[in-house]
Amino acid sequence: MNELVDKALRGMALLKVRNIRHWTDRTFSFNCDRPAGFRFRSGEFVMIGLMVEGKPLVRAYSICSPSWDDELEFYSIKVADGPLTSRLQHLCEGDEIVMRPKPVGTLVHDALLPGKRLFLFSTGTGMAPFASVTRDPETYEKFEQVVLTHTCRQVDELAYGHHLMARISGDDLLSEMVGDKLTHIATTTRETSPAMGRMTDWIRDGRLAAATGAPLDPATDRVMICGSMAMLRDHKAICEELGFVEGSNSEPGQFVIEKAFVD
Ligand code: A2P
Repeated sequence: MNELVDKALRGMALLKVRNIRHWTDRTFSFNCDRPAGFRFRSGEFVMIGLMVEGKPLVRAYSICSPSWDDELEFYSIKVADGPLTSRLQHLCEGDEIVMRPKPVGTLVHDALLPGKRLFLFSTGTGMAPFASVTRDPETYEKFEQVVLTHTCRQVDELAYGHHLMARISGDDLLSEMVGDKLTHIATTTRETSPAMGRMTDWIRDGRLAAATGAPLDPATDRVMICGSMAMLRDHKAICEELGFVEGSNSEPGQFVIEKAFVD
């Protein structure tokens, strides 16, 4: 029997689910126990999902936890007719998900050259990998200033990011490590809030420079971008116009991008 189960799992690990939290009617997060021996770099993603009709149905999810954490947290959108999220959103405490224990990704320090300021641009659930990067000591060892931006359509969608900031400031070790280096800029585009507009517009019209002290500059700044395909395209174009060179794990550069999970 066990042999059959193992075969069906095809090298996947089974993880028990805890702390499910529904942030809005479109987003939720959950935590899983971290399997012994599973290592990853902050900012990486893994394939996770559910066994459906005896087969693993998996999608790429950024790990929201920093690399030192005992748990693995994931932040997900809910898509009504999405093959995986339509099922995943009904997870209950104690259920099991499957994970292929092979973390990968480019939103990692190894893919960036040294710099002074680190900009983390996200929209929607693209915030997920930055929940990891902003809690990694390496981020504050390598950069003097870290700017996390999160843009969503509505105010309630910003809650996960605000909660992340509260988790950092409420934790003695984390808040000491971060000090005053981290700035969080949360904006909305379709509902009134104290800060409004797409971050691409903020970069172009100088609002980001005003909020952070200086315009983006490839000489001093490094950039990680995570969001929808359209968002990535526009942010990438701005970076390239400014002279930033895209990095990868094999050839570190000045900016890196990754698509946020979509269905
Ligand atoms: P907007 O409301 O102006 O489209 P989505 O849910 O479509 O992925 O959008 C999430 C957030 O990302 C929204 O606030 C949206 O703004 C913003 N956004 C969408 N496309 C882009 C883009 N090309 N560049 C920057 N921000 C974008």
